Amino acid sequence: MPRRVLVTSALPYANGSIHLGHLLEFLQTDVYVRARRLAGEDVVFMWADDAHGTPIQVRAQQEGIAPEELVARAYDEHVRDFRDFQIGYDVFHTTHAPEVERHVRAIYRAMEARGDIETRSVQQFYCDRDAMFLPDRFVRGTCPKCGAADQYGDACEDCGTTYAPTDLVEAACALCGAKPRIATSEHVFVKLGNYEAFLRKALAPPDEGGVVQMQDAVRNYVLGWIEGGLRDWDISRDPPYFGFEIPGHPGKFFYVWFDAPVGYIGATEKWCAEHGRDFARYWKDTTGETEIVHVIGKDIVYFHCLFWPAMLHAGGYTLPRKIQVHGWLTVNGEKMSKSRGTFILARTYLEHLPPDALRYYFAAKTTGGQDDIDLHLEDFVLRVNADLVKKAANLASRSVKFVESRLGGTLAALPRDTADLVVRARERLAQAPDHYRRFDSARAVRSAMEVAEDFNLYITQQAPWKTIQRDPEHARAVCSAGVYATQVVAAILKPVIPAWAEKVERMLRLPEPLDFSNAATPLEAGHRIGAYEVLAAPISSAAVAAVVEASKDSLSSAGGESEGAGSEAYEVEPLAETIDIDAFGKVDLRVARVVRAERVEGASKLLRLFLDVGPLGTRTVLSGIAKSYAPEALEGRKVVLVANLAPRTMRFGTSEGMILAVGPDAKRLTLVEVGEKARPGDRVT
Ligand code: 2FM
Ligand code: ZN
Repeated sequence: MPRRVLVTSALPYANGSIHLGHLLEFLQTDVYVRARRLAGEDVVFMWADDAHGTPIQVRAQQEGIAPEELVARAYDEHVRDFRDFQIGYDVFHTTHAPEVERHVRAIYRAMEARGDIETRSVQQFYCDRDAMFLPDRFVRGTCPKCGAADQYGDACEDCGTTYAPTDLVEAACALCGAKPRIATSEHVFVKLGNYEAFLRKALAPPDEGGVVQMQDAVRNYVLGWIEGGLRDWDISRDPPYFGFEIPGHPGKFFYVWFDAPVGYIGATEKWCAEHGRDFARYWKDTTGETEIVHVIGKDIVYFHCLFWPAMLHAGGYTLPRKIQVHGWLTVNGEKMSKSRGTFILARTYLEHLPPDALRYYFAAKTTGGQDDIDLHLEDFVLRVNADLVKKAANLASRSVKFVESRLGGTLAALPRDTADLVVRARERLAQAPDHYRRFDSARAVRSAMEVAEDFNLYITQQAPWKTIQRDPEHARAVCSAGVYATQVVAAILKPVIPAWAEKVERMLRLPEPLDFSNAATPLEAGHRIGAYEVLAAPISSAAVAAVVEASKDSLSSAGGESEGAGSEAYEVEPLAETIDIDAFGKVDLRVARVVRAERVEGASKLLRLFLDVGPLGTRTVLSGIAKSYAPEALEGRKVVLVANLAPRTMRFGTSEGMILAVGPDAKRLTLVEVGEKARPGDRVT
C-alpha cells in the first residue's frame, strides 16, 4: 500500500460556470478519494481553477474588467458549487498563483538545460482591430475542402478536414468579423521527440515495467500517437494573454496548457505549507511511497499522457501512477444542449433537487471505463426513488423508526436465522473498497442495494408489525437485523452520499464514524438508538422538468472554453424529394457488428469501422461520427449498414458502405442500433 496518495480532478476553466459535465468528473474523484480514506489510506485531493488563456483574457476584456477580477468571481462561484455538492477536496487553488509560476519556470528552465527548447517563426492570423493574434478557434471562415460556411480555424465540422486557419476561405476574426492579416511571430517550442524513449518506457504496460498506468484502451491510443511521431509543442502565446511570461522571452507567455497541470503541484504546495506537510514527499518523491492519480476526461488525454509526463520528467517531479480516463456526460442520450435545456449548471440543479440524488445516480452509472455516461432524466427519477427511497431509506424507516417509536429504542441481538444474510452483507462490505479503487462505484452501489433487498425481504417475511403484539422480543430482534443492514448500507454508500451516513451515525448513536471495517460489527444488544431522521425524500419529475426549464434560461451565464462554441439551434431539415417504393426497395440495409473502430489520421470527424456483416463478410467503412463517439465506445455495437452502396474512395481510403445515425450535426449523432436478437447480416426492413 502506498504511504501517501494524491488525487486530482481536471482543473475547470475560470471563465465558465460548473455544469453537470464537470460534476460527473468531480464527483467521481470525490467518491474515489472518500472511499480510499474510509479504507484507512492517507489521501489528499488537490485541484484548482484553470485561470489562464485567451478565452479568459477576451472575456475579461469584453466585460471591461481585469482578468484577475473575472477569475476571482469564478473562483467564489465554483467553491460554492463544490461545497453544496459536498465535494471533499483538501484544497482548491488557482493556476494564477506564485507557487505555480515558480514550478512552471523550474520545469521550463530544466527543459532549456536539456536542449529541448527551440524558437521559430510562426505565421498566424492577426486582427488589427482587436490588436491580437488569433488562435484557431478565434478564426471563422469557409471550409477549403467542402465549402461549408462558418467553420473554425482548425477543422471543418461538416466534412472533418483539418487545416490551418490560413487555409480557410474568407477567414474572419471571430470577435469582430474583420478580415485578419497574416503576421509573423516568434514562438517557443518544446521538442517533444526528445522524450520519446522516456515516454515509451514510462507508459508501457505494467508488466513491461511502465510506471504510469492507464486503461488499456487509453494506453493503446497514446502509444499509437508516439508511434505516429511526436511533433514539437508550441508553448508560447503573444499578448494580450492572461498567463505567465516566459523567462528569457519578454512579451511571450506560456500557453495555458503548459501551466494548467502545474496547478496540481501549486495546489499541493499551498496545502502542505498550510498543513505542515512536506511538499517534497509528494512531488519530489524518490521512495515510491507516493501515488499520484489524475482523473480526466477523454478529451485531454494527449496533455496528460504525453506533455505532462515529459514536463515532470524534465523537472524531476514525481510521475503519476495512474491516469483514470472517463467518457462524456450525455443527457437523455444526447450531448448536453442549451436549446433543449440539458446544459444544466450545478447551481440550477441545486435550486430544485438534492445533491445526494445526483451523487447517487452518477455513482450508480460509473464503472471505471471510458464509455459515455447518460443522465437519462426519467431513469434518474425512477432509479433514485427506487433505490435510495424505496430500498435504502425504507429499510431504515421500517427498522430504526420502528424500534425507536414502538420498542423503546433498544436493540436486541441479531436473530439466528439472519446468519447467512449477515455473512453476505459482510462480504459485500469487505469488497466495497476494491470496487471503489477500480472506479467501479456502480458495483459498490449495487452491492449496497443487494444488502438492502436481502434484509427488506427478511423483514417483510417476519412482519414485526404483526408479531409485536404477541412477541415484542421477536419484533425487536427482526428490526435489529434491519438496523444492522442500515448501518452496512450506509457504510458502503458513505463515499457516495456522506450526508446520509452522517445521519445514520447520529440516529444509531454510533460510538465512532462508520467505515468499511467497523460497520461489519452489529451494535450490541441493549444499545439505545436515537431519533429517526428522514434519509431521503422522493424526487419528482416536476422538479426535473423545472431544472430543464430553468436551464433554457441560463444560457448567458454558461461558458467555458470547451463549451463556448457551436450553434445549439435545432433546425428542422426540409423533406427530401419524394421517391417511389421501388427506389426505396433498392436500398439494402443490413445489421452489422462493429468489430473494431479507430481514428483516421488527419480527419477529425471520421472513424474507420471494421464491420462484421455475418455471411456477407466484413466491411471497412469510413463514418463521420468521430465527434460523437470515441472509437473504443463502439466495439460490439450492432448498427445498420447501407450494404449495397457503391464503394467510395476518399482521401483517407475506401469506404464500403455507410452506417445510419441520427442527429442535428456531427457532434450530436446517435447511431441507429438494433436489439440483441439481431444477427450480423440480417436484413433490416
Ligand atoms: O479541459 C479543461 O477544462 C482544462 N481546464 C483542464 C485542465 S486539467 C489540468 F491539466 F490542469
Ligand atoms: Zn477582430
